Amino acid sequence: MEIRIEELKKQSFKLIEEAKDLKTLENLRVRYLGRKGELTAVLRDLKNLSLEDKRKIGPAAQKFRQELEDFFDSVASKLASAASSGKTSIDVTMPGRKIAVGHLHLLTMVEKEIRDIFKAMNFSVVDGPEVESEYYNFDALNIPQNHPARDMWDTFWLQDNQNVANGKWQMANGNDKLSAISHRLLLRTHTSPVQIRYMEMHKPPFQIIVPGKVFRFEATDASHETNFYQVEGLMVGKDVSLANLKFVIREFFKRLFDKKINIRLRPSYFPFVEPGLEVDVQCVKCGGKGLISQSGTADSAKRNLGCNICKNSGWLEIMGAGMVHPRVFEAAHYNPEEYQGFAFGLGLERIAMIKYGIPDIRLFYSGDLRFINQF
Ligand code: PHE
Repeated sequence: MEIRIEELKKQSFKLIEEAKDLKTLENLRVRYLGRKGELTAVLRDLKNLSLEDKRKIGPAAQKFRQELEDFFDSVASKLASAASSGKTSIDVTMPGRKIAVGHLHLLTMVEKEIRDIFKAMNFSVVDGPEVESEYYNFDALNIPQNHPARDMWDTFWLQDNQNVANGKWQMANGNDKLSAISHRLLLRTHTSPVQIRYMEMHKPPFQIIVPGKVFRFEATDASHETNFYQVEGLMVGKDVSLANLKFVIREFFKRLFDKKINIRLRPSYFPFVEPGLEVDVQCVKCGGKGLISQSGTADSAKRNLGCNICKNSGWLEIMGAGMVHPRVFEAAHYNPEEYQGFAFGLGLERIAMIKYGIPDIRLFYSGDLRFINQF
């Protein structure tokens, strides 16, 4: 019996020490200490011994059992911590974890598309400041102080900024008449001030677009936001005409919507253009019919439903435009007798809403991934 215990001791300690993982270790625990384990069998046999032998071997056998249990525990915790610190082998066949890849926001994508179309038509892309002076946003665009047309743009004014940058801007455009003009600061209500800024620094002929953020102090609803994007266009030369405006706009929409689209010019008013126009495009959903045909359900008859995109009119208002007003050329020190040009301003969100059938402008800024991930 003593020899059996001695042999078990040698063999078990050796095997436990060699165990490379927790599973092997657990099998060994069952082999020696389990209900049918080898040591368990020895301990059970103790009762067959004489009293004297029981006294002699019993405590030694119990001590061995305790040692074996302790050894199992210490090796088990060693193996477990090695496994968690990655020292055990790596399973190279395990599939990797997917990395979540982001993408550009829909508005950024549409803006890029618009840039690319105009660049292909030889337009340059320029930008200007979002914090703008009253002079560039209004006065230079033929919208003097107290002119009722200012009501067309509800404005966010910056506080306590009377004449902040007076000196600097006066020098930039070298006009001493400006000292009489207020340089109060505001958040630009449109991208049109960049027309003046660009003309101050460049000579015609040129054609530019100006994508950028604009701000209006308005209540929001499904089609109005306080922050939104516009794309301004300006083309100036010796003989730029309304016909050129028509061609450029028609070509732009044809490329944007990938098909020929009818446009319509209506007389409108903006102080910085004459004549002023509103540009409509034929509704991209109903094709200008103002109605959408739908197969009926029960009687499978055709029913005509009103078009919800163009509100049954068949046309979508899409941009303001016109021929640059002589006063605007004067403010930029161009001779209005020598140059003429056209300008337009479109709302980026409106274009994206029409192109992708988006019903509410506020979705763009909701940060809702369910919306953003669709594009
Ligand atoms: N700036 C005008 C607006 O925001 C749009 C416009 C631009 C109209 C250029 C005519 C010419 O309402």
